[in-house]
Amino acid sequence: MERKILYSAVQPSGNLTIGNYTGAIRNWVRMQNDFDCFYAVADLHAITVRQDPATLRRRTLEIAALYLACGLDPEKCTLYVQSHVSAHAELCWILNTVAYVGEMERMTQFKDKSQKHADNINMGLMDYPVLMAADILLYQAHYVPVGADQKQHVEITRDIANRFNNRYGEAFRVPEPYILKEGAKIMSLQDPSKKMSKSDENLNASVYLADDRDTIIRKFKRAVTDSGNEVRAAAEKPGITNLLNIYAAFRGCTLEEAEREFQGTGYGDFKLAVGETVADALAPVQEKQKQLLGDKEYLAGVLQSGAENAFRAARKTLSKVCRKIGLYRGE
Ligand code: TRP
Repeated sequence: MERKILYSAVQPSGNLTIGNYTGAIRNWVRMQNDFDCFYAVADLHAITVRQDPATLRRRTLEIAALYLACGLDPEKCTLYVQSHVSAHAELCWILNTVAYVGEMERMTQFKDKSQKHADNINMGLMDYPVLMAADILLYQAHYVPVGADQKQHVEITRDIANRFNNRYGEAFRVPEPYILKEGAKIMSLQDPSKKMSKSDENLNASVYLADDRDTIIRKFKRAVTDSGNEVRAAAEKPGITNLLNIYAAFRGCTLEEAEREFQGTGYGDFKLAVGETVADALAPVQEKQKQLLGDKEYLAGVLQSGAENAFRAARKTLSKVCRKIGLYRGE
């Protein structure tokens, strides 16, 4: 049976957290067995906010190595860097002519980022969703796995695809968001009412995938807890609940099993156990990532054949689109 096509991408900006790991990365790895997956490092999206060139270059490679270290298998899926396949920028230009300024101005992320980067509201920032539509539509994706914050982008992609198909004839499959059966959301260690974020200013709030063992354990020791002394999940215990969720996610057990395990344990010992569990789980990934980053030739090879694969698929869509809209391509 033909496998369904799945498309996703991650920006090489900021340092990934354990929330990205349990919420996104591990799912990408799982899904490569069931779908025909295209996974991109979205460097063209990243430059819509100011990036230091050397850092951007380093992070692009680090993210690719991280995904491979987590188990993405280049034999099973297509892993590549967005800017290596020029069809993304080309299709984006064409889709710009069917996307409306008004609808882009209304996008939540555009409004947020315009506030945050008031000194750099560039055209690319507003065009971000159109480039994302180009990413997805080029590969005729059935599904796009995204978290809640990106759902609006998949909606606009569907609108753009439908509008194009209606105006010029069928060129795109209209994709569906693929809502992940996520485990519990991972919250900030310093304020469990907030999602753990890679851009949190409080460095103790987030545990990064790149943190070493001592840092991880220290951050968990400093995690805010709740009044009382019982380790159990409850609405009035958001701090402890968050830690239990993290433990369960890294142990691969249920919340109830985690609660049972720590019945009668004090907060201090519990936090140490969570820290150690997370550090133990990340150690082999970090080791593998380091090893991959030490073999630039291998990494470059994987990304190059990924880009070639992606280009082959993208080219088909792009030439169809060019034909439909009347760009002269010879007789
Ligand atoms: N905007 C996405 C994010 O920040 C990254 C992304 C770029 C993406 N292109 C995509 C995600 C296409 C899904 C499909 O998370």
